[in-house]
Amino acid sequence: MKGDNGMTAKELLAQAAVAMDRAYVPYSKFQVGAALLGRSGKVYLGCNVENAAYGPTNCAERSAVFSAISQGEREFAAIAVVGGLGGKPKGICPPCGVCRQVLREFCPDDFPIHLQDADGTVRTFTLAELLPQSFGGAFLEKEGD
Ligand code: THU
Repeated sequence: MKGDNGMTAKELLAQAAVAMDRAYVPYSKFQVGAALLGRSGKVYLGCNVENAAYGPTNCAERSAVFSAISQGEREFAAIAVVGGLGGKPKGICPPCGVCRQVLREFCPDDFPIHLQDADGTVRTFTLAELLPQSFGGAFLEKEGD
């Protein structure tokens, strides 16, 4: 099914696999790739980039979001994520909590997150399903804003 902005979930997952091959993961060897579809139709790829000090490591999903924002796009239609040890996914690779919160900054509750089972079956979750009762900018609005 041609879904979000004329791109199928499968096509977006294939792009995420391209990004996964670029992961810099000398420590965990766990490669993750993300493909973020902008409302413009442009796809932003991200991979995880690890660091010897561990803490500075950046997840694939955040790499994709930060790339898109840096290039001027702020509205998104969907994201696809794949990952696995040695670049061989063994099932879905759900975004970590920090990445869910970063997506929450820019994406609505019904934003689709496409994942993939080991046999290739697409499993799509909404952002609200993965991050219920979430915190966002509206909580910080002051009277008179
Ligand atoms: N990782 C991601 O890139 N995205 C996630 O949502 C989960 C974890 C990366 C971080 C680290 O490089 C490796 O996977 C193992 O945790």
